[in-house]
Amino acid sequence: MSEADETFDFVIAANRLPVDRTEGPDGQIEWKRSPGGLVTAMDSVMRGRDGAWVGWTGEAGEAGEPFDDSGMHLHPVGLSAEEIRDYYEGFSNDTLWPIYHDVIVPATFHRRWWVAYERVNQRFAEELAKVAAQGAIVWVHDYQLQLVPALLRELRPDVRIGWFNHIPFPPVELFAQLPWRDRIIEGLTGADYLGFQREDDAWNFLRAARQLTGLKTKNDTVIVDGPSGRRVVRASGLPISVDFENLDALARSPQVQERAREIRESLGDPRVLMLGVDRLDYTKGIRHRLKAYGELLAQGDIAPPDVALIQVAVPSRERVEAYKHLKEEIEGTVGQINGDYSTVGASAVQYLHQSFDRAEMAAMYQAADVMLVTPLRDGMNLVAKEYVTCRHDERGALVLSEFTGAAQELSESYLHNPHDIQGLKRTIIRAIQDSEEEKGRRMTALRKVVREHDVQSWAARFLASLEAAPARPDDDD
Ligand code: G6P
Repeated sequence: MSEADETFDFVIAANRLPVDRTEGPDGQIEWKRSPGGLVTAMDSVMRGRDGAWVGWTGEAGEAGEPFDDSGMHLHPVGLSAEEIRDYYEGFSNDTLWPIYHDVIVPATFHRRWWVAYERVNQRFAEELAKVAAQGAIVWVHDYQLQLVPALLRELRPDVRIGWFNHIPFPPVELFAQLPWRDRIIEGLTGADYLGFQREDDAWNFLRAARQLTGLKTKNDTVIVDGPSGRRVVRASGLPISVDFENLDALARSPQVQERAREIRESLGDPRVLMLGVDRLDYTKGIRHRLKAYGELLAQGDIAPPDVALIQVAVPSRERVEAYKHLKEEIEGTVGQINGDYSTVGASAVQYLHQSFDRAEMAAMYQAADVMLVTPLRDGMNLVAKEYVTCRHDERGALVLSEFTGAAQELSESYLHNPHDIQGLKRTIIRAIQDSEEEKGRRMTALRKVVREHDVQSWAARFLASLEAAPARPDDDD
């Protein structure tokens, strides 16, 4: 049997494979880890399971043959340049992404984009139908693939289908704007189990199903009467997490500790090193963070070289208009802050428009006294959990936006509303000035939460819920 015909009992579908195809300096193909929380989390779930991962390679063109990388069987799905524009940049990231993130920027609707979204979802479903063994478990991820559950069920009624949304699910008032809202609900209710980051997201979905499509809901379930009888689809909140054990071990390694010292030294050993780590996305509140930081400098509350800020901004979706604007704006602001407040040899902001490997990130987290996580809306924010995981010394302070999924679990962090610049400034100052004892108390509590709710337990709970589905409707339904 060729690799292309092999089938698997456990299959993941995500828009991206966990690696992107890039060209090396001599034109050779190289595989680089994809950015973003989804890949980071699923990477560790997938290791040790003999499963397959179906996804896009990040480049335009034919799918190419399945291949193995990092101990996983990877099955590429091909997207044409036009589909990248309409399905990925268009419908996924310029229609759904803004609607699902409180319309921080306006959403754009194009019927042509929707057609591409349908077509690509169909292609994923067909690929999954080929790769999944009889009775397999298929775990579909995120907003790019919301039609896949129903499309796959039609092709392969024997498989068990779960879907997890890594981003928020919007309130019905916003979701209702989508001209294709019924189709999306119909697509999702093809699954046996739907997982969301927060209970509130699951309720938003259930409410949308009830109010917009007239489906009957009961407690945390939707009741779907289809051609093959009645099905019950459960929706619940299941916050994703990090691989605590592995990342903690990495952060404790002598190499990472040494690198953390080097980072501080190279900045002139500031008394307070602050850090921001985000994909360069308008949901992350980088503008608000820089505004607060700039005002604290202007007021003389903080000043380099005593205080420094590293801002890592991982390049993202650079052909989408809103992201181009954001990049210009952020880079302009960083330039202004540095022009006004840097001194010879001490920059107010070290701006790094790059991505870094895990060890370098762990060193930065170790080095940072104050971690700034200020999203305007974020499904979870794994950076916050990564920071906590890397602080085995139980030092450091996490300044965390209330509008992240993580805020619900990490209630011992320095919580704030990023729209309230005065409040954000006060919170940053508190995070700097609180006693080491108080910071230690908070960090110990935060680490306990992340240690006890790691990505492995998240995946186990998801799979147990999927295993338990479909629930039987009560007799009185
Ligand atoms: C978020 C989404 C993922 C996405 C990642 C990176 O984490 O939930 O689905 O893969 O951002 O974005 P990109 O558009 O580069 O895949």
